[in-house]
Amino acid sequence: MAARSEVLQEWPHFSKEAPRLFAAPGRVNLIGEHTDYNDGFVLPMAIDRRTVVAAAPRQDRKIRVHSRNFNETVLLDLENPGSGCRGVWWDYVEGMAQVLLERGLKLPGADLLLASDVPIGAGLSSSASLEISVGLALWSLSGQPPDMRQLALAGQAAEHRYAGNRCGIMDQFIAAFGRPGNALLIDCRSLDVRLVPMALPGVQVVVCDTRVKHALSSSEYNVRRAECEQGVRQLQESMPELKMLRDIGWKQFLEVADQLPEPVRRRCRHVVGENARTLSAVDALGRGDLGEIRRLMGESHRSLRDDYQVSCPELDLLVEIAGTAEGVYGSRMTGGGFGGCTVNLVETGHLDAFRETISRTYSRKTGIEPGIHVTSPSGGAAEFS
Ligand code: GLA
Repeated sequence: MAARSEVLQEWPHFSKEAPRLFAAPGRVNLIGEHTDYNDGFVLPMAIDRRTVVAAAPRQDRKIRVHSRNFNETVLLDLENPGSGCRGVWWDYVEGMAQVLLERGLKLPGADLLLASDVPIGAGLSSSASLEISVGLALWSLSGQPPDMRQLALAGQAAEHRYAGNRCGIMDQFIAAFGRPGNALLIDCRSLDVRLVPMALPGVQVVVCDTRVKHALSSSEYNVRRAECEQGVRQLQESMPELKMLRDIGWKQFLEVADQLPEPVRRRCRHVVGENARTLSAVDALGRGDLGEIRRLMGESHRSLRDDYQVSCPELDLLVEIAGTAEGVYGSRMTGGGFGGCTVNLVETGHLDAFRETISRTYSRKTGIEPGIHVTSPSGGAAEFS
């Protein structure tokens, strides 16, 4: 693990105490996009890239934290926190510490050394892996046994308040609960989790990175969320029992869709359809039905592009190129959108040709060399030695 050896090498220059080591992974979402904050279903898996934290307690009320990725050290005061939402990496660290303190944990001061091999800002949840790894380290240093579910919820609260993203629970949950060999079906209302074995012999999960991130991503995210809430309020006039878009099925939605103005109607159509597709994808994975998985991933992408309008030309291009390559069982944008990555299921025997085709065509058309990572479903946050 590259990040692990980096922190171990650097630690003796940073602190004299013996460190404890913690890590939390990034994620890729197979299907179920923009459904989590509508109480719906998601199907992410943890990837084999993680943020590693070396941690030791301090005698004072400070957190001294160094990021290898940003080559920067900051000193945070537990008793006197900054405002948050400054657009800096330590917003997440401070946010996590403050939310855990508010929730009653007795946190000591700490020295923290961070290194991550999750690509930053690529839509693979580098921020959730940062929140959860730091949160796990601080919680563990407090001497209390960590409650992973509370840890994930605290990560989401930190993201809302200290980063200004009104995200759902998917990223923090999969960072906390990922399991090797499995994707997780998360019911974002009950927070029940079901392991979904990724038993597709001869098929690899490949993440393709557009290497672009459009400035819209965070502001439009909050707009989409507000549009879904508006849709619910308007539908409640004829369906008072409706609480969230999760509560409405596809057929029922078609009967009432006319009550909604555009673009709210198409936003809601995406969410209702995506919930159904996610549950169908779990069944299809269980049967090993790759044809059906390809169809569902294709529909998901088109719906995100045309109805939810969170794709971008670079993501569409990667999906289009993947559609021309042999041995591909599905390709779609993954994560919040407006840049970031696609997720692809590719037959092992066709991997080299897939790489070649994506890399050559994407760079010819955009002038950008795409990132291509073959990954596998990995474990969630943990302390390790
Ligand atoms: C981001 C958010 C998640 C989720 C996805 C879209 O990754 O952090 O909560 O809403 O976008 O599915």
